[in-house]
Amino acid sequence: MRMRRKKHGSERIAACASLLIPLPESILENPGAYFPVERPLHLEIGCGKGAFACGMAAQNPDVNFIAMERVSDVACLALEKAKSREDERPDNLRFLIGDARGLTEMFPPKTFECIYLNFSDPWPKSGYHKRRLTYRAFLEQYRLLLKDGGILRFKTDNADLFAFSLEEFAAANLTVEWQTDDLHNSPYAQGNVMTEYESNFTAKGMPIHAALVRF
Ligand SMILES: C[S@@+](CC[C@H](N)C(=O)[O-])C[C@H]1O[C@@H](n2cnc3c(N)ncnc32)[C@H](O)[C@@H]1O
Repeated sequence: MRMRRKKHGSERIAACASLLIPLPESILENPGAYFPVERPLHLEIGCGKGAFACGMAAQNPDVNFIAMERVSDVACLALEKAKSREDERPDNLRFLIGDARGLTEMFPPKTFECIYLNFSDPWPKSGYHKRRLTYRAFLEQYRLLLKDGGILRFKTDNADLFAFSLEEFAAANLTVEWQTDDLHNSPYAQGNVMTEYESNFTAKGMPIHAALVRF
């Protein structure tokens, strides 16, 4: 996602500080402490402008969500979106501006019940596959961070990334509980919260691939 630099970006992010988990210098001992009430923790990696995180937090008040985004100008828009909804659901969504490559240096083992990857960058150029968020080295990080029996939920428009990801899940001995090449016309559509990319692709008539993977 390319973005022009946001004017006054750091001031705008600072104005949303109550929703932000500062990038930790060492492992966070208790990530749940960033929420007023401790609840099961879910993590979205690459949250973009935050539509999914805001929608999920509103739909699931019994879960605490951390939405992570590495591009601060994009995270700024997500933070502002969440802040503008604060009256609706103020307390179960926090953001972290950081790169998922360092996840296991930020969070302790067995922190999350669920990790979401939504429309992750496909990195189509040859030699770049190790950057895909479903590459096996990332799956090993997720294995450490998820509680026993935790799940990864994955959505993408990109058939090549989806096929690659299914191969990686198999190579990592993970169980794909379900998969579909047309999420919105499948039994798994119930409760689905759309992301910004998903809304755009859906408006163009493109089907959405999705899978639920058990660790
Ligand atoms: C294609 S966009 C999709 C955004 C959003 N999930 C959606 O579906 O509308 C992918 C997002 O993931 C972020 N991203 C990519 N790699 C990341 C990483 N290693 N750590 C954190 N965020 C990442 C990008 O900056 C970008 O905002």
